[in-house]
Amino acid sequence: MAAGEVRPWSIFLLAFVAFCLCVVNIVVLTGIDVKGEIYKIILPKEGKKGFKYFDPPNPIDDIDLPDELDQHPIVALTRDQLKRFDRYKRAQPRSFSQVVEKYRLKYGRHPPPNFDEWYKFAKKRKCVNFDDFDQIMDDLRPFWGIKPADIRAMVKALDTKESRVTIFKVRGKKVTEVKYADAWRASVFKGIVTVGASFLPDLDIAMNHLDQPRVVATWEEVQAKLAQEKKTRIQHPETLNEFSKIDWDAPIDIKGVDLGFFDYSGKPYMDLASKACPPESYARRPELDVKHVESKYKDPVGGFIRNFNLSSDLCTVGPQLSNLHGFLFSSSSTLATHKLVPIFGECKVNVNNDILFPANKYYDLKDDRYVYNDEQDVPWHEKTPQMVWRGVTSGGTQNADVYHRLQRHRFVALTNSSKLSDTQVTIMEAVSEDNVSGEYTPAFFHPAHYAGSVMDVGFSEIVWCVPDCHFLDNVFSVKPELKFKDTFRFKYLADVDGHSFSGRWHAFLKSKSMGIKSTIFREWHDQRFFEWVHFAPMDNRFDDLYALMTYFTGLEKGVVGSDGAYVPRHDTEAKRIADRSREWATQVLRREDIEIYMLRLLLEYARVVDDNRDKIGYSGDGSEVDSADNTKQGWRSWG
Ligand SMILES: *[C@@H]1O[C@H](CO)[C@@H](O)[C@H](O)[C@H]1NC(C)=O
Ligand SMILES: *[C@@H]1O[C@H](CO)[C@@H](O)[C@H](O)[C@H]1NC(C)=O
Ligand SMILES: *[C@@H]1O[C@H](CO)[C@@H](O)[C@H](O)[C@H]1NC(C)=O
Repeated sequence: MAAGEVRPWSIFLLAFVAFCLCVVNIVVLTGIDVKGEIYKIILPKEGKKGFKYFDPPNPIDDIDLPDELDQHPIVALTRDQLKRFDRYKRAQPRSFSQVVEKYRLKYGRHPPPNFDEWYKFAKKRKCVNFDDFDQIMDDLRPFWGIKPADIRAMVKALDTKESRVTIFKVRGKKVTEVKYADAWRASVFKGIVTVGASFLPDLDIAMNHLDQPRVVATWEEVQAKLAQEKKTRIQHPETLNEFSKIDWDAPIDIKGVDLGFFDYSGKPYMDLASKACPPESYARRPELDVKHVESKYKDPVGGFIRNFNLSSDLCTVGPQLSNLHGFLFSSSSTLATHKLVPIFGECKVNVNNDILFPANKYYDLKDDRYVYNDEQDVPWHEKTPQMVWRGVTSGGTQNADVYHRLQRHRFVALTNSSKLSDTQVTIMEAVSEDNVSGEYTPAFFHPAHYAGSVMDVGFSEIVWCVPDCHFLDNVFSVKPELKFKDTFRFKYLADVDGHSFSGRWHAFLKSKSMGIKSTIFREWHDQRFFEWVHFAPMDNRFDDLYALMTYFTGLEKGVVGSDGAYVPRHDTEAKRIADRSREWATQVLRREDIEIYMLRLLLEYARVVDDNRDKIGYSGDGSEVDSADNTKQGWRSWG
């Protein structure tokens, strides 16, 4: 062999030495953790159409679509929503690699540190929807437009009794301190955080103490922050899968921090809310044609809700509801701010910037006014074919002048047959009695008798009026209280807001009865439940109540109370809704699902308040977790 000729093995050796130096260099310079292997990262392909997870092929054909020949508007709405729900399910990722790939495609950044641990945590708890956390991203996105140190300074500034928040401190992977605790709520929240605390860095969390949401930043400010968020979307090929060490207890100067709280109790909320709406929205342009605005979320023929999300969007419906909902015209305890203050809250309206977490009531097992117990439920055919509602007179300040505008009071009045003697409503009646054509047409209907026989609705307690409740003496009477378990003897369970969201909703979804929901509030679980698939949506004005109920119960021609109308019964459809919500709720509304949501939320929160937030995160491709999974199981259980 001639001198100077390089042997193949020596090239190898050289390359190897160079590689080692390189790795050492990276470690020395940037401190990258090379314990694990380095995986190839799939970067988002902008504008790539038909990406398999977003546009899944092969619809499952065993969905129980209602009869296509039946032309009742609710049938078409149900068919549409069933297809939407089917797509949602098929679009769920089936492995960790898919979860991270989809994460990067959707949000344009790496998942937060410990995302692999979150996945294992969720998988162990039998999570079925690894990609249903948009709410978390939406809630936290504006905070990417604020410096981490400034966010932390706001949390510090919140740490006073006057802020009306509870402060939780996570230190050394434990919740070590709870300040300004309000009895049960704080202990439940602490419990949920504790479950996932071993994956969290040190953190301070401020939880709203009040029933009602706090933060309403202006539309212009949120847009500016979102634009900044977009600019910060970077995906370094290698990041540190670890949070920075932040000393939350170090003294910092918070003199310059203005949280901007002001008391807004009893004032018109839409005046605040409209500032958070787009300039072209109905909330800011009340001169727009109502019918046109309504057509965005309501079916033009029957008035049924087509888009539940939009039906509670205050920018779209606010001006119509501002005098019809207690929170909007006379909220009882609003301590609001226009500043983007990081406060965790159980519910909000769409214009709020509170950070949603699963309401404590849903996790608490102790309160039998809210906890669903399977053993106390009965099969559908044993249930009374009536709608039931009981509750107290809450929902806003009640006095003789305004009580009739509160949502609960309106609802109880609208279902009281003795008040309805001169009332006419519109329902959808079948065109022909033999129902061969399947056609329906709007018709006037006197609901007094129907309400008397189908609706068991009333207050179980009349309280909290100003100056006292005597002015309600001849208006409402107290109905015998129903134990929560006795509610489930009815087929139809109506759910209406009080001061804030209704804590019964999880139980209603889990039950063998069908829920009927009207609300202006947003909660953590909204995206995983589909109107008409899992519950019947109801307009916050209740103008669709009778058309809705007669669709399910039917009206027999010639019978007293049918008022000459005929509507075929859709009892089977009601039962299907009840069954579907029950089946789905047992998969995505469990206490485990609350733990999964909370941990993911806190990982995202911990990253956005971390000074190195652009350089930390999970940058792997997920295969190491999947192969460990596959080895453990021997095969993929997900198919
Ligand atoms: C129904 O309305 C009548 C008056 O119109 C009232 O006396 C009665 O108490 C109401 N019933 C309920 C359950 O509120
Ligand atoms: C409701 O609509 C808004 C705006 O289109 C969207 O950002 C949000 O994710 C939707 N929420 C649900 C629960 O679908
Ligand atoms: C049509 O009417 C018959 C009884 O006359 C009933 O058994 C059937 O369920 C009805 N069909 C629909 C779609 O309601």
